[in-house]
Amino acid sequence: MEKMKHIIESLPNETGWSLYQPYCLYQGFWCFPDFLEGIMLAQECFKPEPGDIFICSHPKSGTTWLKALTFAIINRHRYHFDDSSNPLLSKGPHDCVFFLEQRKFIGKFRQPGVPLIATHTPYSSLPKSVLDSDDCKIVYICRDPKDTFVSLFHFIDKRRPKHIEPVSIEQGFELFCEGKSIFGPIWDHILGYWKASLERPNKVMFLKYEDMRKDSALYVKKLGEFMGYSFSAEEQHNVTLQKIVELCSFENLRGLEVNKTGVQVNRIVPHPVANQDYFRKGKVGDWSNYLTPEMAQRLDKIMERKFYGSGLTFKN
Ligand code: A3P
Repeated sequence: MEKMKHIIESLPNETGWSLYQPYCLYQGFWCFPDFLEGIMLAQECFKPEPGDIFICSHPKSGTTWLKALTFAIINRHRYHFDDSSNPLLSKGPHDCVFFLEQRKFIGKFRQPGVPLIATHTPYSSLPKSVLDSDDCKIVYICRDPKDTFVSLFHFIDKRRPKHIEPVSIEQGFELFCEGKSIFGPIWDHILGYWKASLERPNKVMFLKYEDMRKDSALYVKKLGEFMGYSFSAEEQHNVTLQKIVELCSFENLRGLEVNKTGVQVNRIVPHPVANQDYFRKGKVGDWSNYLTPEMAQRLDKIMERKFYGSGLTFKN
């Protein structure tokens, strides 16, 4: 622990877009010290179990949704969709699937019987034990970085204590474009998982938020297949896929009491997060309400340059 604290203290740090503490640069990505301790500990001692599935994402790309969907798919024979014992109805998705970087849960990463572990850690910094394992899988969700930025901007602003001056959208955008945002640079984050999905398609599944919004049932089916929880022909013909889509829909989850008034329990950051802060608009293309055409073009250009030759694009 002392060794980790010492390493963290020696890292380059940035205060530009932070609410409570500076964030620091470790292995090429920016991260809060609290999360970093969890990541370093996991890098040292995490042991995957056969069948573990990692839910990976850059923050504000659809993590909450993917946690809910994967949890619902895996548990569909255990809990009825409208049964009050279904944890998704009484807990926020983040309390159904924990984050790897939440240090205090070391040794308690998984909910009993649920082999799901979430993380915002970039692919190359995942524990070596996870990268080397042939028995665990990785599902990654990404989103148009313009929408990710707008979502992040609002999330940070919502969580800002009153005595801290707001960061303007222009300031936040500048830092985001410089790669200096939590778990950024976003292009490295996305590319790391993209390349891994090409190299190891049976291990890494790469999803786009926009595609999933267009045809959610198709992606529920694909997720089931990839994770080893395939839907039977009967399930595909009856309403099972649709029930999962509805249970995990933005409107349904946002409307649940626990997500209107509850607080994320399993969180290390000193200030609790209200579950409702994870549900803002859930729209594709909301960036156009906040970014000028020049800002949008600048971020698009950065992404095009970074993704050049990779085969990855966010154009429809
Ligand atoms: P917006 O801020 O654009 O509304 P994350 O879960 O990675 O923190 O990402 C949060 C974003 O996902 C927010 O985007 C949020 O509204 C959206 N979101 C949350 N739950 C969702 C769901 N069930 N379906 C679709 N989008 C969802």
